[in-house]
Amino acid sequence: MRLTITLQRFNPEQDAAPHDEEIRLDVRRGTTVLELLIRIKQEVDGRLALRYSCRSAICGSCAMEINGGEKLACRTSVRKEYARHGRLRIAPLRGFPVIKDLVVDMGPFWSKIRNITPWLSPAAPVPHRSAEAAATGAGFHNVDACIMCGACVAACTVHEVSPRFAGPAALAKADRFLADPRESERVTRARLEVLQEEHGIWDCTRCNFCVEVCPKDVKPMEAIIRLRRASLDRRLVPTAGARHITAFADLVEGQGRLNEAVMPLKVVGLDGARLWRILPLGIRMFFKGKVPNPLAHRLPGLAQVQAIFRRGRRPPLA
Ligand code: SF4
Ligand code: SF4
Ligand code: FES
Repeated sequence: MRLTITLQRFNPEQDAAPHDEEIRLDVRRGTTVLELLIRIKQEVDGRLALRYSCRSAICGSCAMEINGGEKLACRTSVRKEYARHGRLRIAPLRGFPVIKDLVVDMGPFWSKIRNITPWLSPAAPVPHRSAEAAATGAGFHNVDACIMCGACVAACTVHEVSPRFAGPAALAKADRFLADPRESERVTRARLEVLQEEHGIWDCTRCNFCVEVCPKDVKPMEAIIRLRRASLDRRLVPTAGARHITAFADLVEGQGRLNEAVMPLKVVGLDGARLWRILPLGIRMFFKGKVPNPLAHRLPGLAQVQAIFRRGRRPPLA
């Protein structure tokens, strides 16, 4: 089958900006995108820069944008891409600085991984055999399957607008240590405290793109939700994100519904400047009938709602 392949090229020594280049090649059935790129490098243009190693979806180095989605080139079929999209366009991972052609700078990615302290600090030395047993039984929720390919970060809608966001891969890595029974509570707490800050766990908008693109089914968004729960269990609630969730739950438990008038006050707290900023919003809500009548009757079924909350409540950790 003779196909046209569109490649995004960029040579910082020659080009002012990335540009597309079209190549026509005969492609055999069963060819992967990585095999195709290696052929292009060997037969068409030896200057093409790409990164790969294992060719078996293990090393994570061949992640790139294929037809607009983040994928591993070594496990993406050319034929299936053509059947689905009617074309094949290959570009480097979005949101990463491009070094050359399809090779991106993973430096910022690795520094975010380093920021979550990606190693164990047990309270006491763990004998080798019991360490293995603990890790096996820890229930890492498949987070330990991450191959650090960066696809989730490239797909992340928050990372796109806020590159300082810790990102799904680093946060999933933090969750891996949260689940490890050998980790000391002191270090877990310190790790969670760092993640409360701006660009941490509360910045995730739960768009689910990281889950969709992950080639190893790591489900980073679910890892972030576990980190949020662990933070609330430890009463780490200094951020607007944490206050938003706790205020939401408190209001529904107390009144059986969300009270949109009280919610912003609970999130903002007694910060005069911020209260002043949300005042126009409160006035607009009042005139749109969004401020509930404080003298209204209790909602029917409130006792059942409160019983659900009591049942689901988890005791806070020390
Ligand atoms: S769910 Fe959160 S971490 Fe995942 S891609 Fe969306 S914003 Fe990013
Ligand atoms: S979580 Fe998935 S997509 Fe993200 S770096 Fe790990 S393997 Fe890649
Ligand atoms: S070459 Fe290793 S994951 Fe593709």
